Amino acid sequence: MNPISTDSLLTALRWRYATKKFDPTRTIPTETWSALEQALILSPSSFGLQPWKFVVVTDPALKAQLVAASWGQSQPKDCSHLVVLTVRQGLNHADVDRYLQCSSAITGRPLEALSGYRSVITGFVDTATATGTVDAWSTRQVYIALGQFMASAAVIGVDTCPLEGIDPAKYDEILGLKGTGYATVVGCAAGYRSSEDGYSKAPKVRFAASELIVRR
Ligand SMILES: Cc1cc2nc3c(=O)[nH]c(=O)nc-3n(C[C@H](O)[C@H](O)[C@H](O)COP(=O)(O)O)c2cc1C
Repeated sequence: MNPISTDSLLTALRWRYATKKFDPTRTIPTETWSALEQALILSPSSFGLQPWKFVVVTDPALKAQLVAASWGQSQPKDCSHLVVLTVRQGLNHADVDRYLQCSSAITGRPLEALSGYRSVITGFVDTATATGTVDAWSTRQVYIALGQFMASAAVIGVDTCPLEGIDPAKYDEILGLKGTGYATVVGCAAGYRSSEDGYSKAPKVRFAASELIVRR
């Protein structure tokens, strides 16, 4: 691994902003997009369970349709690729077993060797299910993927806008997610900023480090 410099990192993170206006004429090249899909896939998640699917929307008609389900925001239509991050609803033992089978196949460790780990995870899932918090727990994982996606995009010069100003139920309907066990959490438009987007020059509004970083 060849680490990028701290200067390069901070330059990219300061360059990133929630893009309000994308240039509708620009498309993310295939290779660049593939890397961003890998960034999503490589996101960490609790126990490694990956309670998500990422719906990549590039169809112009679908993108246009999603504007009305996004408080009229133009990003879904004008961006190059819109990712809709969805969460596995009601994560259960079958999901844990699916993950463990995948893990066994990739690492070569027999499933029986993973039985202790299975008990730990299913115990956690059972408690979360009993307390009604399992979907909230899975949803938190989805936001980790969102953060990783946006930071990765910035580092390779791709603009993004996270979109929580959406109607998730309408997204589910438009994207055919109903009944699949996955539901829309948040969108993220990706592409290239329009030169007319004044927000790209706005200063970053952040509390002072002295207020945010606590040292002990
Ligand atoms: C989870 C999440 C949802 C957001 N939803 C929207 C949105 O629907 N539309 C929008 O224009 N910006 C949205 N934003 C962008 C924030 O307003 C923005 O990140 C924040 O004001 C800081 O500005 P910056 O990202 O440009 O530094 C969202 C941000 C996050 C993290």
